Amino acid sequence: MSRDPLIVGGIVGTVVDYFDASARLRVLYSNREITNGSELRPSQVANQPTVHITGLPGSHYTLVMIDPDAPTPSNPSQREYLHWLVTDIPEGRDVRHGTEVVAYERPQPTAGIHRIAFVVFRQAVRQAISAPGWRSNFITRDLDECYSLGGPVAAVYFICQREGTCGGRRYR
Ligand SMILES: *[C@@H]1O[C@H](CO)[C@@H](O)[C@H](O)[C@H]1NC(C)=O
Repeated sequence: MSRDPLIVGGIVGTVVDYFDASARLRVLYSNREITNGSELRPSQVANQPTVHITGLPGSHYTLVMIDPDAPTPSNPSQREYLHWLVTDIPEGRDVRHGTEVVAYERPQPTAGIHRIAFVVFRQAVRQAISAPGWRSNFITRDLDECYSLGGPVAAVYFICQREGTCGGRRYR
């Protein structure tokens, strides 16, 4: 049995194929760093987080933030829902130094426990990525393939459910 949290949480499989991490991704909401499988309330993720990517000096990275459980985990007909897309993030600098292609949209799940994942790709070159026409039915694997991004280099996910809901299944 694998103990890799991305496999346990189903991010590897649903969103990306297995990869060996070659960059370090830190996502902080109000100075609190998220860990794989931790739960955050919608009110805690209202504003865009600080994101640091440490990898190959001089490189640029692409960040996607998606919800594979939209609109509900039992019927994810909008899978994947795109919350944020930023390209050309310089290694070692905050995400604000990148190019925001699709603006941050706060997660506001209405039903069920949603996984929200951040996936990072290293760009071979600085490149323009065009904004998809809509946020629903985004496919991270297609972005990877379309722009020859070469597979993910880092990822992390948290879980989120409607404010005021108690209990429920936790992944960790
Ligand atoms: C999340 O899990 C992945 C895969 O094991 C790992 O590479 C990454 O460092 C973890 N992130 C955090 C913040 O723990």
